Amino acid sequence: MDFIKSVAGLVAKATNLDINEIVSLIEIPKQGMGDYAFPCFKLSKVMRKAPNLIAEEIASKIEKSDFIEEVKVVNAYINFYINKKIYVEDVIKNVIEKKEKFIESEIGKDKTIVIDYSSPNIAKPFHIGHLRSTVIGNSLYKIYKALGYNVVGINYLGDWGTQFGKLIVAYKKWGSKEAVERDDIKELSRIYVKFHDEAENNPELNDEARAWLVKMQNGDEEALSLWKWFCEISMKEFNRIYDRLDITFDSYKGESFYNDKMAPVVEEIREKGLLKESNGAQIVDLEEYNMPPCLILRSDGGTLYPTRDIAAAIYRKNHYDFHKCIYITALDQNLHFAQWFKVIDLMGYDWAKDLVHTPFGLVRLGDGKLSTRKGHVVLMEDILNMAVDKAKAIIEEKNPNLENKDDVAEAVGVGAIIFEDLFNSRIKNVVFDFDRMLSFEGETGPYAQYTYARACSILKKAGVENVDSDINAGLITDEASFNVCKVINEFSEKIQEAGERYEPYIVSRQIIELCKAFNKFYNENNIMNSEDDVKKARLAIVYAVKTILSSTLKLLGVKTPEQM
Ligand code: ARG
Repeated sequence: MDFIKSVAGLVAKATNLDINEIVSLIEIPKQGMGDYAFPCFKLSKVMRKAPNLIAEEIASKIEKSDFIEEVKVVNAYINFYINKKIYVEDVIKNVIEKKEKFIESEIGKDKTIVIDYSSPNIAKPFHIGHLRSTVIGNSLYKIYKALGYNVVGINYLGDWGTQFGKLIVAYKKWGSKEAVERDDIKELSRIYVKFHDEAENNPELNDEARAWLVKMQNGDEEALSLWKWFCEISMKEFNRIYDRLDITFDSYKGESFYNDKMAPVVEEIREKGLLKESNGAQIVDLEEYNMPPCLILRSDGGTLYPTRDIAAAIYRKNHYDFHKCIYITALDQNLHFAQWFKVIDLMGYDWAKDLVHTPFGLVRLGDGKLSTRKGHVVLMEDILNMAVDKAKAIIEEKNPNLENKDDVAEAVGVGAIIFEDLFNSRIKNVVFDFDRMLSFEGETGPYAQYTYARACSILKKAGVENVDSDINAGLITDEASFNVCKVINEFSEKIQEAGERYEPYIVSRQIIELCKAFNKFYNENNIMNSEDDVKKARLAIVYAVKTILSSTLKLLGVKTPEQM
């Protein structure tokens, strides 16, 4: 039952206002002021009456109904008190019947959302900057799936461009097959860094690199086979990380896929009269829109990052007919996306409005921004290992006899990182503080996992595999139990909001709310030693919490071990 809608229905009958408008006005009041509140300030303008008088008037016309226990006017607010028994019964029965599907909806039916995320660069290490894109993208992917959209996850690999020319030169000068085979991406990264150091004193190296890039573009066999080899080595490393995060993609079409698709697009831009020459390069002038020009072709005819993005967007529109195409990168690419989105718009494509860049803030370990070029890279794998080692030490201390200690440590360590990443608005910088992130108390992944494990252990102790939904909700009268049901019931709305705002934190915060509500319920209510019917009803609440925690933590990509 959608309680907000039902309350709005009562107000609609009493006022003739549009029900959707009422829904948008309804608020969740402060503790003790009821469950839903309808403010009358807005009506006061139209009705030319003091809002508190309007509230009185409407309240007097509200029909009696089973699910509302009381209607009270406080100043300009009409406060509704829900019948707890009906509410608890409705929510718990629904969760027990629908299980994981309780949080799903059909809002996105027949619409496709494309998400471009992770997208690391071949032959460069996967650093914690890429972690955010991967984790945020994966969570949005799951959120849109739960909302009923078709979702296409694309890993737009950075597998073409100037870095390959440099890498080939570096490999030929300072690398060896053995070293690359032994140290894979670390070795590629080493020689890449060396290239930059050497090129500072010896700029001709850059000319050599460009020459190799041109060879690659012309299909030179040696250049291409080295390129392919570098790609394979990088993918091996990336896949190791994706496995640990339990992430797969629907498509791995990276930048190189668009090599043969750019010429017609550049032609189209030219035909539409948008291309201009500037210092030998071809650009789209964006001065009118207060932006620097968008570079389309270099003076040597080479294509650029924006050229590939434009070609890729057109390909994706033709291929998937997306409702939205979402790009997840750090905020330092804001201008890049604003520029080429504008080019798509100027080309006359009305779907330019469906391109969405969702930027995120930086990750810090306390020692400044991360850089690939200078070599002070913090590798993703090192971070994961650090968190997992720490989780292992905590488990060793708290629960040394736990089975599958390694698996649990992996789930807790990785989960802690993911949760921390998704706990704040995307745009905020993330500072990884391992002690805080891994604490079992506080607003952390391990706290949520621990709460889940607690629910599992209660059910196990009680010997219930599956509870039946036939409970006597009239026995559940306390505020803490009611609150658990409320938090559960709010999830659908929160998931929808997370999707609309591209913000997984709205889900992660609600998960913490549920954990807090559940732990309060657990502290205040005796489960095992209560009377049969009461015990049955309370266990049903525990079961509902367990189900909802597991299905919502999945939306974040956080695993849920049954024991910790
Ligand atoms: N490979 C890029 C990087 O690591 C990110 C690509 C983002 N996606 C896009 N369509 N431009 O910075």
